[in-house]
Amino acid sequence: MLPPRPRDAAAYRWLYESLRREILEGRLRPGTRLPSTRDIASQYSLSRGTIVSAFDQLREEGYLEGNIGSGTYVSEQLPRALLHAGKTPVSAPPASAPPRRLSQYAQRVRNFWALDPRPPRCFRAHRPALDLFPIGLWSQIASKRVRAYTAAAMVGCDTLGYPPLREALATYLRGARGIRCEARQLMIVSGVQEAFDLVFRTVLDPGDRVAIENPGYPGAAHIMESVGAEIASLPLDAEGVVLDPKALRGARLVYTTPAHQFPTGVTMSLARRLALLEWARRTGALVFEDDYDSEYRYSGKPIPALQGLDTHNVVVFAGSFSKLLFPALRIGYVVLPPDLVDAVSTLKAITSRHVPLLEQAVLAEFIEQGHFARHLRRMREVYAERLATLLDSARVRLNGLLELSAVEAGLQTAGWLQAGIEDTAAVAAAAAREIEVTPFSRCTRGPVTRHGLMLGFAATESAEIRRGVRELAIALEECRRT
Ligand SMILES: Cc1ncc(COP(=O)(O)O)c(C=O)c1O
Repeated sequence: MLPPRPRDAAAYRWLYESLRREILEGRLRPGTRLPSTRDIASQYSLSRGTIVSAFDQLREEGYLEGNIGSGTYVSEQLPRALLHAGKTPVSAPPASAPPRRLSQYAQRVRNFWALDPRPPRCFRAHRPALDLFPIGLWSQIASKRVRAYTAAAMVGCDTLGYPPLREALATYLRGARGIRCEARQLMIVSGVQEAFDLVFRTVLDPGDRVAIENPGYPGAAHIMESVGAEIASLPLDAEGVVLDPKALRGARLVYTTPAHQFPTGVTMSLARRLALLEWARRTGALVFEDDYDSEYRYSGKPIPALQGLDTHNVVVFAGSFSKLLFPALRIGYVVLPPDLVDAVSTLKAITSRHVPLLEQAVLAEFIEQGHFARHLRRMREVYAERLATLLDSARVRLNGLLELSAVEAGLQTAGWLQAGIEDTAAVAAAAAREIEVTPFSRCTRGPVTRHGLMLGFAATESAEIRRGVRELAIALEECRRT
């Protein structure tokens, strides 16, 4: 007895699925003879052709055997586990299954990033002012590009990326960041995070030594750990990363954020840059320069990149549109030393081939038409004003509680907590007052020697920043008392 056929269900689909379910759930047992097609036709008001097609399909899939005429039977060969599969929730592994073995690589991979879809609360780090993005212009270019899609474009593009975008970016990076590069060294990637993955997998083996800033960006460290590298910590001082010979011994790669150290905000001095390049040249190591938000500098001029001083092809330079435009774009770029281009692009080719072409084409046009430069200029003004509000209010209210960095750059600024206040306690007290600060301990390897907070200022209007500072002062006072 089959379940009634819903009004809108196609006869063939209903019969096929009902019989399959009866078999899988054990109501039609192996060896059972099915009624003749004529009987089924009259009982369920179906045409014989429909029944023959459903039987043929089930026979091909192995649920039925025998022939119309000589009798059709439920297959004797169905494995027992399959017969009850329909009742088992997808998430539960069968009781008898051996435990799934994950590769050594997968066991080393850790997730550090979860999308927080809630509207940002005051001081959320990494967040640009998305409400000020010229979405109208972007969608005009996008719809024009979709309409102009040709069969050739639908095939895809070079693994290194859409050539006009690479040309536009190479020109921009040479002018704005002092990068020494040709478009053929520049690869479009799905954010700096993908650049870490591709480059680290290309040049590192399990057991290789690497050195990173501490505190530093956990997204880079996690990828290094996933490839099995051994990580040594480089301390920081007022000139940026300290080239500690012990930590650098045997290192094959150094990861650094010279323009605006993540998370402390320090800018690496020229002397330190030259010393790092000289060390890399002498030892044959690579320097990975993460230029994640250097375009935003509100006092003085943007500092040219470390890569621009490199005369020996020891620097890999990476940047991203996540903060300059919007994070969902997932477009970044990496400028590779010429000898690494083939190896890194081969890795990209066998994994994701290339970044989606449509977004690349829209971005290329957005840059070529001057919208990108205009947007950056506008956002620099907005963010400079928001940072000034933060610094002014902090001077009055956070004095003696949180000492904010003097570096005026980026989408977030850093502050050192008064001795005795732990950053995680500060985060909890702030969250109770609807503000969202990020503790340095989240970016620290080993024991935390000095506690600090990151305060994002870009996504929030000035009035909200002033409220946030007032609330943060109360929260930190509470922590100091307890
Ligand atoms: C220092 C730093 N590097 C790299 C990234 C990753 O950027 P993307 O979104 O381009 O992958 C981030 C993201 O917040 C970051 O803060």
